[in-house]
Amino acid sequence: MKIKIALLNGDGIGPEVTAQAVKCLQAVEETFGHEFILTEAKVGAAAIEATGDPLPKATLALCKESDAVLFGSIGDPKYDNDPDANVRPEQGLLRLRKELGLFCNIRPIKVFPTLMEKSPLKKKIIAGTDFVIFRELTGGIYFGEKSLSEDGTTATDSCTYTEKEVSQIAHLAFKAAKGRRKKVTLVDKANVLESSRLWRRVVKKIAESYPEVTLDFMFIDNAAMQLLIKPTQFDVILTENMFGDILSDEGSAIGGSIGLLPSASIGENYALFEPVHGSYPQATGKDIANPIASILSVAMLLDHFKLDEESRAVVIAVLKSIKKGIVSPDLSTSSKYGTNHIGDFISGNIRDSDDYLILNKENIWLGKSTII
Ligand code: IPM
Ligand code: MG
Repeated sequence: MKIKIALLNGDGIGPEVTAQAVKCLQAVEETFGHEFILTEAKVGAAAIEATGDPLPKATLALCKESDAVLFGSIGDPKYDNDPDANVRPEQGLLRLRKELGLFCNIRPIKVFPTLMEKSPLKKKIIAGTDFVIFRELTGGIYFGEKSLSEDGTTATDSCTYTEKEVSQIAHLAFKAAKGRRKKVTLVDKANVLESSRLWRRVVKKIAESYPEVTLDFMFIDNAAMQLLIKPTQFDVILTENMFGDILSDEGSAIGGSIGLLPSASIGENYALFEPVHGSYPQATGKDIANPIASILSVAMLLDHFKLDEESRAVVIAVLKSIKKGIVSPDLSTSSKYGTNHIGDFISGNIRDSDDYLILNKENIWLGKSTII
């Protein structure tokens, strides 16, 4: 298969982690006989430095003519510490999501059996955790009207949702649930917010077309607590943009490190794959960043193009690196392995191994395979 991929490294540790993901893509390309055409473009602070624009026209054009986008991370402390900055790196990613119509952000959260002791939560609470967050990505408070009064003392961010925005992601969440444990939990704040009440009405109606899927509702404050008390109760969490942003960072702690979590952002015509983590400026250039989230984002990209065996090969190689302790310091403080070495190990394993031919993905993730 021939796939055109726009490579947007972004800021901070972005270039280092995507470099490892690219090694894995190249290993898949060679092992399975595909052609992945990668073209780089700037985004975020790196693009502001070069062009003054966090999403230059050429970058957007490249994304639009590609089959998929592989994204690193975005953000720079220079802008975080300057609330008056008008141009900000994050605007690049937000505009990209909007321009490409990536309304559905999918963030799977599973615990790796061999990493359970890394979690701040007790093993008996997290064992068996396996849920996926469907986060609406192009609406809500992120994209609502914003204003600041002339005297600078009053600020507004409004949260707007349309029935269409809710229904398009809700359908995808129900479809995903059908192939999983058949449960959707809509997380909202319907006891306070009008927009949440719209979500409830629309999602309730859509649920009627998926009779095999159970729908339940949970307020965001309770969901934030339930995630820590009983994460195994969740299968598919469906939620709006900002609640999904917050819950996915919280959820990442369950597995021990946000450095493990990949994501896919899907629209009608485009798809983007990126780690859930940010640009982690303190680690930039130190060869200590965890490349696994970016490499697993490649696995999601391959899944998206129905390259199941290829995706499985990537996941298995990641599991091997974890099993052998070839991991970054966020997973083992005494680790002597750097980002680059981990990328070499994982891509090397994709080339050498044929384990993916004999194992099904379900078993791998559940830790029932011989590898874990
Ligand atoms: C994420 C990030 C982004 C978001 C930032 C970088 C704009 O936190 O993808 O979760 O808030 O969506
Ligand atoms: Mg976030």
